[in-house]
Amino acid sequence: MKEKLLKLKEEISNKLLEVKDLAGLKDLEEKYFNRKSEFNIILKGIKDLSDDLKKDIGQLANSIKQELTLSLQEAKNSIEKQRVSKEKFDPSLPAQKQETGHLHPLTQIRNEIEDLFHSMGFAVIDGPELESDYHNFTALNFAPHHPAREMQDTFFVDLKNKDEQYDMIMRTHTSPVQIRAMKKYGAPLRAIVPGRCFRNEATDARHEHTFYQLEGIVIDKGINFSHLKGVLETVGKKLYGPNTKLRMRPKYYPFVEPGSNGEYTCFLCSGKGCRVCKYTGWLEILGCGMIHPDVLKNGGIDPKKYSGFAFGFGFDRLVMLKYNIDDTRLFNSGDLRFLKQF
Ligand code: PHE
Repeated sequence: MKEKLLKLKEEISNKLLEVKDLAGLKDLEEKYFNRKSEFNIILKGIKDLSDDLKKDIGQLANSIKQELTLSLQEAKNSIEKQRVSKEKFDPSLPAQKQETGHLHPLTQIRNEIEDLFHSMGFAVIDGPELESDYHNFTALNFAPHHPAREMQDTFFVDLKNKDEQYDMIMRTHTSPVQIRAMKKYGAPLRAIVPGRCFRNEATDARHEHTFYQLEGIVIDKGINFSHLKGVLETVGKKLYGPNTKLRMRPKYYPFVEPGSNGEYTCFLCSGKGCRVCKYTGWLEILGCGMIHPDVLKNGGIDPKKYSGFAFGFGFDRLVMLKYNIDDTRLFNSGDLRFLKQF
């Protein structure tokens, strides 16, 4: 009986070493440890042995049982460990893609345009979005209560500026930075102002309450209309290709004289007329003009010595036309289906 037990122990130990998975282990348990297994039949027979043998064999059988139970548990643990570590890291699987963001389409084009203006000697400057009524309107020749203010639906803020002199508003255009730049830097001056503006618009595909403009201002001795035209032509060619033409037609803005709009040949139909340009062949995209002498004075610059021009691009519109985007509300939507296309 003793030999039988030792032989069984060796047999089971060897089998345990060969087992590779949990199913194999279960089969082994079933075969050697269930109620009808050889091992249990031996255990059951112990009670019929003589007292001496009972003690000897009993002890041996018990220690073998303990040892085997332990080995079985160890085998189980190591199989489980292998399975988990395999699941966690499988070097043969393709790597998981790391999502990285990218610049917003408005920022991409802004960077491009800033580079272009840098190359022409313009500084890039900034101004506050919460602006005084004075800088936004009065200093730009919009007299208080003059109907010209109605051109720009304004968000009024329940605040006054520091010395309680002026009402505060959300700036309706980037032009107030003209005054700030003149006061701060004086003449000569060459700068652009990309920035966010706000108007109390009923929003639709072409109007947003929050939008972007790109202002430009040049002041020096002897600056005239042809300089303005030259700069705008250069920008148009850069944005929409070398065959782009510029058309300027008179338009009223209180802070420029003469004032003009600016249209480029439609990049889509090259001027033939299509849906994008509403069959005119031209895309209206900016306002501009020679800076009004009173505005120069308000900025502390002598209009007898200096002259200058200013222009303001509807920046969202410029990007919409470049990429054929048909709804301006997409820019601020945070919609990844839109953003991922750029
Ligand atoms: N600020 C004007 C607007 O928002 C555009 C403009 C800028 C016109 C500079 C002339 C000169 O409509």
